[in-house]
Amino acid sequence: MKNTWKRVLAVLLSLVFCAAFLNTAAFAKTTREDRDFDQGWKFHLGEASGAQGTTFDDSSWRNVNIPHDYSIEQEYTPKAQGESGYLPGGVGWYRKTFTVPAEDAGKHLVLGFDGVYMNSTVYLNGEKLGDHPYGYSPFSFDITPYVKVGQPNVLAVRTDNKLPSSRWYSGSGIFRDVTLTATDPVHVATGGIRTSTPNLSKDSKDGLTKVVTTVKNDGSADETIALRQTITGPGKTVKVKSAKFPLKKGQSLDVSMDLTVKNPKLWSPAEPNLYQLTTEVLKDGKAVDTVTTDIGYRWTTVSNTKGLFLNGKPFKVQGVCLHHDQGALGSAANRAAIERQLQIMKKMGCNAIRTSHNPASRTLIDLCNKEGFLVLEEMYDGWHANKNVNIHDFSESFYKTIPADSKLENSYPGEYWSEYSLKSTIRRDRNAPCIYMWDLGNEVEGAAAGVAYDRDYKNLAKWADEVDGTRSYVTADSLLKYYDKVEVPDHTNMAKMQTASGGQVGGNYVHGNVWDTIHERHPDWPLIASEDVSAVNSRGVYKRGAYDTVANGTMRSDSSASNKSGDQLPKHQLTAYDESTVSWGKMAAEGWYDSITRDYLAGEYVWTGFDYIGEPTPWNSEVSIPIKGWPAPKSSYFGIVDLAGFPKDSYYFYQSQWNHDLTTLHVLPAWNENVVDKDENGNVKVVVYSNAKSVELFFTPKNGGKKVSLGKKTYTTKKSDGGLYSYQYYEGPGKSDKDYENLYMTWNVPYQDGTLTAVAYDKDGKVIKDTDGRNSVTTAGPAAELKAEVYGGRKSIATDGNDLAYIEVTVTDKDGIMVPDAANRIYVTVNGKPARLVGVDNGDASDIQSFHDNNRKAFNGKFLAIVQSTGEKGSFTVTVSSDGLKGDTVKLSAK
Ligand code: GAL
Repeated sequence: MKNTWKRVLAVLLSLVFCAAFLNTAAFAKTTREDRDFDQGWKFHLGEASGAQGTTFDDSSWRNVNIPHDYSIEQEYTPKAQGESGYLPGGVGWYRKTFTVPAEDAGKHLVLGFDGVYMNSTVYLNGEKLGDHPYGYSPFSFDITPYVKVGQPNVLAVRTDNKLPSSRWYSGSGIFRDVTLTATDPVHVATGGIRTSTPNLSKDSKDGLTKVVTTVKNDGSADETIALRQTITGPGKTVKVKSAKFPLKKGQSLDVSMDLTVKNPKLWSPAEPNLYQLTTEVLKDGKAVDTVTTDIGYRWTTVSNTKGLFLNGKPFKVQGVCLHHDQGALGSAANRAAIERQLQIMKKMGCNAIRTSHNPASRTLIDLCNKEGFLVLEEMYDGWHANKNVNIHDFSESFYKTIPADSKLENSYPGEYWSEYSLKSTIRRDRNAPCIYMWDLGNEVEGAAAGVAYDRDYKNLAKWADEVDGTRSYVTADSLLKYYDKVEVPDHTNMAKMQTASGGQVGGNYVHGNVWDTIHERHPDWPLIASEDVSAVNSRGVYKRGAYDTVANGTMRSDSSASNKSGDQLPKHQLTAYDESTVSWGKMAAEGWYDSITRDYLAGEYVWTGFDYIGEPTPWNSEVSIPIKGWPAPKSSYFGIVDLAGFPKDSYYFYQSQWNHDLTTLHVLPAWNENVVDKDENGNVKVVVYSNAKSVELFFTPKNGGKKVSLGKKTYTTKKSDGGLYSYQYYEGPGKSDKDYENLYMTWNVPYQDGTLTAVAYDKDGKVIKDTDGRNSVTTAGPAAELKAEVYGGRKSIATDGNDLAYIEVTVTDKDGIMVPDAANRIYVTVNGKPARLVGVDNGDASDIQSFHDNNRKAFNGKFLAIVQSTGEKGSFTVTVSSDGLKGDTVKLSAK
């Protein structure tokens, strides 16, 4: 720990003498290099005595690249917990031998980890640098004193995921990027940039940007330096240079400088305008260190009656919660995977993400800045007490202090791990325009309601203020949902503190009428549904009912199907109709209806955008005993999108409500007799999700009959209670007695093979031709072919050894119509050295075949193969085949 010598002095350098507008920015080449340290590691699963030593023989260990997850490589076992996906954790060892080039002599070297799950210990050349318990926050070491320049060095990392440690699939190991940063001894400190735009909320043209830079002199001589700050962005460059000032050896100084970007282009999810702040440390006028930071201009305000405002305009939160795993890739934070996930969410109209229930990778934050999502970055799932049976979760270390011999950067003797992890996350992310509030914790009380949580809250908020101070706070509270019956003082105190901070009061699974009660009793609280819905659906399953209610115990089904027990449902599957949720949850439409009709409610974060590994509710098990025996489902049913990234039908419900840039028109169910759910009269419930003004449904019988209209339905446009928002509501004949079911249209159609087609009309009665979604369903014949497409139409991938191509495969009949229940086994072959197969999936929560095989069954007509570049250039092909079916091949290249 280096803080004993550290003297932080905040100086406002009033001697700023140069502020200029220029068209281009030219930066001298400086010594800072952020080196990718992800390649060329060795890995061993299990204990390895003495593996931190330099002479340890690791030749028998596997070669791996980071990000890496060693839980996903293991077999599912009923001995692990259902809630963490039946995948084990355990001890893992990583080693990397590297040579620091001779030119690095005299440089300052920092080793940074973006996330290691969990309880890691880092050694360099046999010397312990320190421990780091939390799995999701960044940490770094100044390794300058321990590195041998020009010679081989051995870095060793031991990780220990002691089970049970998590309520969801955590993954294990170095699952986020590692970097080695080389700088001049006089340099900007790690996480040493802090920006704010204090005037923007009063005058959106006033882009005064305050920059506080922590500079350090880790060299052996006193220096005289200056700082230059440059902001470049849409159409402009602004520069400011400080006067020279002394920086003694060993000294650390906070330097404040002001720049003004006049009339900045504001950042928002709709227009994510980013600017780059470049900070240069100048010695004798020459830049010796340069750091570039993405920044943006935006402000948010909360209102107790009107929800959230972004840049002065009402902003309804159309949000999702996301866990960090990437399905078949496990928890390895791969940029291309996260990018695809965000693109799929964006198209749905999602404008906000809650990083449940932990800090995200820096990759996700960077992408949210660029793609445009408001982010609630959540810190912890619990605070001082463990959740469920997870005695080895982070609560074990929450109030433990960092050992005195730790060499962690930015820590001090006696600091709690909870303070360190929160501050290191905020230092990393505080300049990100996408983050509008810190979410300090999810349902923090776990099983132990009401014990000193307001104390923990105060600590966390104080620590966050110390390193940020520009954002307020929220927590995702699980007791507000009972506030119509009982109020818990600890939680009421937290809500008051959040309100006082200018933050929001977050409630999980609060029903509309309970929100109304809370709003009435605490009219000053600005409310947000920090977590909502938890509907449970399988993609492409059109039987209905609440299957297996004994196992569920906790299911709620709105099914009006004649067979309510749902015993027609395939084993371990749930209907794709918006008819099933957990007992504490809501239907998708219900959550949104609660939100869109109430202006005082800022919006909702749906649980969850994507399915994730673990928590296979209603077959979840917190202990090592699978509910209903083994094999058991391993992944969740909560996603709007399945684990493989294929949208469930409810995706189009959200798109119809959230994305106003396109006309959604989506019909369910699929139209094959064996997959539909017929009532006693042979009728099938047909649902259309659309934001058109009117929709007409047509049926064309298979065997040459005439196309007939099944009726046209028209929405009424309604206003939210305070008039800020509008939404469409069906109130014509056959309207449902449940309000939320009128956010979409429903027909009852006698089953007969053929084609159902929906047609959308605008308010003038004109047909809207350009629609998005499945506007027509046709009875499919037997499976005959595979159709492979590369996600996003990509033709090439980068040769960086990380980039991915997602090959999405559909099983069709001879006419190209998807076979809605196809379960054919599909094999994948990659031809060519530039790529390799890294995962297969189908989105079936109950399928526990390894993701790493070269084959898997299709699930309801869909299959996914993920290939990754190997580092070689050139073209390659991916072929999918299946017995008795015509296969398909896609051609790609790596450039
Ligand atoms: C919430 C919890 C989530 C998830 C969800 C399932 O209470 O915050 O992590 O468990 O329930 O419905």
